[in-house]
Amino acid sequence: MEPFRYHVYICTQNKPDGIPCCHRDGAGKLALQLKTDLAARELADTVQMTTCGCLGLCEKGPNMVIYPEGTWYTELDSERLSRIVTGHLLNGEPVAELALGDMDAARTEIIAHNRKVAGMKAVMDQAGVIPEELNRYIRSFMESRLVLTAVELDLFTALGSGSTAEKVAAQLETDPRATESILNALVAIELLTKEGNSYRNTDLTADYLVAGARHDSRSATLHPAKLWHRWSTLTDCVKAGTNVAKDSGERNREQTMAFIAAMHKNAGFRGKMTVQQLDLEDVQHILDLGGGSGAYTIAFLQQKPDLTATLFDVPEVIPLSEAYIADAGLSERVTFVAGDMIKDPLGEGYDLVWVSAICHMWGPEENRNLIKRVYEALDPGGQIIIQDFVLDDQKTAPRFGAIFALNMLVNTRSGSSYSRAEYETWMRAAGFEQIVHKPLPGPTDLIIGIK
Ligand SMILES: C[S@@+](CC[C@H](N)C(=O)[O-])C[C@H]1O[C@@H](n2cnc3c(N)ncnc32)[C@H](O)[C@@H]1O
Ligand code: FES
Repeated sequence: MEPFRYHVYICTQNKPDGIPCCHRDGAGKLALQLKTDLAARELADTVQMTTCGCLGLCEKGPNMVIYPEGTWYTELDSERLSRIVTGHLLNGEPVAELALGDMDAARTEIIAHNRKVAGMKAVMDQAGVIPEELNRYIRSFMESRLVLTAVELDLFTALGSGSTAEKVAAQLETDPRATESILNALVAIELLTKEGNSYRNTDLTADYLVAGARHDSRSATLHPAKLWHRWSTLTDCVKAGTNVAKDSGERNREQTMAFIAAMHKNAGFRGKMTVQQLDLEDVQHILDLGGGSGAYTIAFLQQKPDLTATLFDVPEVIPLSEAYIADAGLSERVTFVAGDMIKDPLGEGYDLVWVSAICHMWGPEENRNLIKRVYEALDPGGQIIIQDFVLDDQKTAPRFGAIFALNMLVNTRSGSSYSRAEYETWMRAAGFEQIVHKPLPGPTDLIIGIK
């Protein structure tokens, strides 16, 4: 028994340049069209759609197969796809003139294709050509740099509702030939479209990377743009065991704003979901340690109307925290403390200390001490809640946390990602009991301990 009336597999496989594939022939757009059509015809709950890898008929792509009948449709385009949605998926009549008829011939073609691919791999292996699965990692910095530079130049905003390379170059005061190259490359990675010599934003860039857009994320993107430079020092950092950047690491005002904006965006999304999972029944006053924009303070206070909070952060950040909290209309319930969490008093009388994205900034000894001082700041029965990238005992997973350890290496004196066992050791040493690990959707988890 199938869980859905139909299951559609549409191939969106992308292959290296010069090799036929459904992606090259527009399968991405067709998959999007299919999804929209299914929703528009109220078929989303009866038809399960799965994008899939190569089906073996690449020369005839884009391809899709519909089960339970096992009907293969090849050489799809927008018009053919609409006919299939109406005929097959809506009215239950496979579209015979578009369906692949001779399955024996298809089978022979797929087997020949598989042998060809295996033969090509063997030849490349013999010649020592770097395989795609390795090359991808070696070269992916180029695509990242391309997008970061486009944001730094504010190129997506300059394009507005469409423009030419010449006009964009004049507006941004950039070199016309180089501007054309970067615009073409952005089309190649499908972040822009091009018709004639006119370029346009895609829905994605129009929504996220244009000034004043619905989800204008340019300021949050400038933080990774800064990290780019730090990551360039990784080789020397691995040799030295600490960050080696020549600058002091202090952020200017603009960089601090970009960093806090990036944090706010991330925490604004996760805050509500995270706070809803917590038991706040006996909680009256919380300390948001290194609270940044106050996104979590806002989530806590919105969750429980009689809660008050203290937000502790460095003096440069506190004015930004005050502005975000004022924006949320919560200034009267929040006290702000400017200081250094490593050496300044944390205050007292809290029944919850929220330590989110903090421990990865510090080395093991600093964390051990900080957690001890949090214990002292809490009332008996109070809880510490640490939110961070929590690694498994091998410290190799989750993938994001393991890579983030290097982000801390290049950016801080002694920061890293830590394992669940390390957090538990520090918390027990401080005196915390009933320690629990609460996995969350996404890259960070919670570790909770009671005084
Ligand atoms: C990675 S952000 C986390 C912000 C927020 N807790 C969250 O989860 O989104 C780290 C925060 O710690 C603050 N911070 C860094 N060093 C600090 C220090 N020595 N004392 C107090 N706050 C500090 C930063 O200004 C920043 O707001
Ligand atoms: S890439 Fe789609 S069938 Fe091969």
